[in-house]
Amino acid sequence: MTKRPLACLVLAAGKGTRMKSDLPKVLHPVAGRPMVAHVVAALEALRPERIGIVVGPGMEDVARAVAPHRPVVQESQLGTGDAVRSALPLIEGFEGDVLVVFGDTPLVSPGTLGELAAALHGPGDPAVAVLGMRPDDPGQYGRLVLGGDGTLDAIVEYWEADEVQKSITLCNGGLMAFDGRRLPELLAALTDDNAKGEFYLTDAVAHARLRDWTCAVVEGDPHEIMGVNSRVDLAAVEGIFQRRFRARAMAEGVTLQDPDSVWFSADTKLGRDVTIGPSVLFGPGAVVEDGVAIRGFCHIEGATIRSGAIVGPFARLRPGADIGAEAHIGNFVEVKNATLGAGAKANHLAYLGDADVGAGANIGAGTITCNYDGFFKHRTVIGEGAFIGSNTALVAPVTVGDRATIGAGSVIAADVAEDSLAIERAERTDKPGWSARFRATKAAEKAAEKAASKKTPDPKG
Ligand code: UD1
Ligand code: MG
Repeated sequence: MTKRPLACLVLAAGKGTRMKSDLPKVLHPVAGRPMVAHVVAALEALRPERIGIVVGPGMEDVARAVAPHRPVVQESQLGTGDAVRSALPLIEGFEGDVLVVFGDTPLVSPGTLGELAAALHGPGDPAVAVLGMRPDDPGQYGRLVLGGDGTLDAIVEYWEADEVQKSITLCNGGLMAFDGRRLPELLAALTDDNAKGEFYLTDAVAHARLRDWTCAVVEGDPHEIMGVNSRVDLAAVEGIFQRRFRARAMAEGVTLQDPDSVWFSADTKLGRDVTIGPSVLFGPGAVVEDGVAIRGFCHIEGATIRSGAIVGPFARLRPGADIGAEAHIGNFVEVKNATLGAGAKANHLAYLGDADVGAGANIGAGTITCNYDGFFKHRTVIGEGAFIGSNTALVAPVTVGDRATIGAGSVIAADVAEDSLAIERAERTDKPGWSARFRATKAAEKAAEKAASKKTPDPKG
């Protein structure tokens, strides 16, 4: 088998009307990443010579999501065949294989895409290869009509199918591979003479057969090829993605105490011997190194947690949080754009934003970095081994030196030298016996009031 170069086209110009959304369908996220970016990542794994994306007019945000791959605009959505026609300039003179995939099929794997492209090199020198599937409910998928020899004779769209054709269980998954030399001729032959008045890419099969060119079928897993047309489909695809991700994480040495309640992003990175408690959510950009324990109910996004650190329960790590090795982040602690050195501790109720906390520093309960003046963000620097007493407000920009101590309840608005104590509190007043006298006076007043109300006759009585 000689391997020909590969070009890929992603169709993403459809409006996705059934999503009922202002966001283009292919930008709806699955595991924190736009659907179309999942598809492009799977294609990139095949190392094609080029990837082109067909977008609709004004869909610059879709083009951005797939950069640096080249977008091409399909001026009006006249069907999947028209979409591929619009992309012809991207593959002009290209003589290799052309893989056409949909931007709304985010679970497709590189392995399946590779098998589909390889089918073009099978018996009969196929001009077209189609990815088929047998879903539990064939619904409105196009149906694959096979000839006596098991190769494909036609794809009949649901809207064009008669009752016999609708009873076919082998459906079109929507992904197709073409011999690039014969593709332009097949596209030129398409017409819009059908129920929807669209140029169906699927008609290319019948046109190939008219020329006596072979069309091959590769059967795939319906859960993988599933297309998203509605929010219900989106939730189903998200569920499948998460189940697979959890299974893979556990296979690679991660303990999930309640797997179904932990949600990952497509790019979440997990080391070995990581333990994750119930109801933890990972947004994009999380990196968790070996031996980390993440207790229940944490929300982690754009954060790195280094070896042996303990996080949670109920912690929130926001983008730019970098938690050092063996550090502890406890309950109701929020960290944003801040680094904590090795072994640093912030165990309860704190906000650390735009900060650098040195190794071994201890951040007391209720410590707040006041990082924002209403216009600009400022940094707080806390030295190694420093001790920040409870309920301290650190008014940034401010630096607390190595091993310095801050007394509880202080508002620290100027730098603190290393090894010194800074404490800022109002002067305390003590009045011995005052409390006992106060309580005795008030108790007597209350008793007198009660006695008076008993003597007053009830006005209704
Ligand atoms: C299509 C197939 C159907 C298959 C199903 C699998 C055709 C004619 N039908 O139907 O056989 O069973 O997928 O999921 O191909 N798009 C454009 N421009 C257009 C129209 C669509 O770029 O003018 C894009 C959409 O953004 C989408 C993809 O093509 O990503 C498929 O379009 P969609 O409308 O979802 O096709 P289906 O009705 O699902
Ligand atoms: Mg679809």
